[in-house]
Amino acid sequence: MVDIKEEFQKRYQKKAEHIFFSPGRVNLIGEHIDYNGGRVMPCAIGLGTYLAISKNTDKILRFQCLNFKETAELHLQNSYSKTGKEWFNYPLGVIDHFLAQEQLVSGLDMLFYGNLPIGAGLSSSASIEVLTAFALVEMFEFDMSKLDIALLSKKVENEFIGVNCGIMDQFAVAFGEKNKAILLNCDTLDYELLPFDTGDYLLAIINTNKTRSLADSKYNERFAQCGAALKALKKEVDANNLCEIDIETFQKHRHLIHDPAVEKRALHVISENVRVNTAASLLKENKLKEFGELMYASHQSLKELYEVSGVELDTIVEFCKKFDGCVGARMTGAGFGGCAIALVKKEMMTDFTKQVTSYYKNKIGYELSVFASEIGDGVREMSMHSVAAKI
Ligand code: GLA
Repeated sequence: MVDIKEEFQKRYQKKAEHIFFSPGRVNLIGEHIDYNGGRVMPCAIGLGTYLAISKNTDKILRFQCLNFKETAELHLQNSYSKTGKEWFNYPLGVIDHFLAQEQLVSGLDMLFYGNLPIGAGLSSSASIEVLTAFALVEMFEFDMSKLDIALLSKKVENEFIGVNCGIMDQFAVAFGEKNKAILLNCDTLDYELLPFDTGDYLLAIINTNKTRSLADSKYNERFAQCGAALKALKKEVDANNLCEIDIETFQKHRHLIHDPAVEKRALHVISENVRVNTAASLLKENKLKEFGELMYASHQSLKELYEVSGVELDTIVEFCKKFDGCVGARMTGAGFGGCAIALVKKEMMTDFTKQVTSYYKNKIGYELSVFASEIGDGVREMSMHSVAAKI
């Protein structure tokens, strides 16, 4: 068990003033449509990122993390830019944003720890961004709402880190609530919390354990293709984003798109948005089996039209379809590896884990990991005495 307070004391020879926590997320349905103005349905999960933090008077920003050996010590200055691919670029990007707004921070001693698998598509980056922003807002009493925090974290990811992500992840880790799915309209940012009552089922997260390479550049490529599709359709269709266009209108005007890959991307986006709307109604009626069918359909579309799945994720979903105690499964997050989610009968979870593990190992050659996920609350400060027991 990790005692982040004790570790902080050891490393900085003083007590942490605060401990904050920010979760990771899974997305139940609505993939790759947040940056197209669509509706998505993420939930915050129980795993996430912790930050033990104190101010210092030496005007130095100290970044340490229990998961990585790389550390940074930077003199407080007016602005920073991303250097290399180190983990501390994420909190540094957030601090840079506050400095640019002339919301001055003092020196800080920081110790991070995450129990999310890193780079597994569970939003470890949104988690650490929102965590840092929330901590600074609380400690320096900046006048910012949770929505401001989510938007600023997205901006950091877009501009400082260089990934053109949408708002889904940052919003989910900021606004998550226990046993609730967030139905978020990414165009208007209106949202609704839907009870996510899995009844006899569990939400299993299955990590492919595939190292994701080039995921960011492929993500940015999909983003650009959606922009190209919209631009072509706009010659005849009046729309601000792809998700405003209904299927019939798309069918009528799809000939305007000349690149077949771009056409497929647009078809995924538009049909996925329709699936989210149907899925939301089904969830409200607690029709989990029908909801599960839409998860499978979403996966199929991500595999064939959006082409962001891969043999690892497909193998998991293929197994789930054959397994009796599973009603739905799909890749979650950006794809290109990462995690799948599945709705699995509680009493069959042990069998499921055993069988999916060996099925995957036989086909792919290495092991996956499976865990049942709690749907938890969003970013928050932890009370000092609850922390050690939690991690
Ligand atoms: C990543 C991005 C999100 C979203 C998903 C795909 O997680 O950060 O904004 O686009 O991929 O749905």
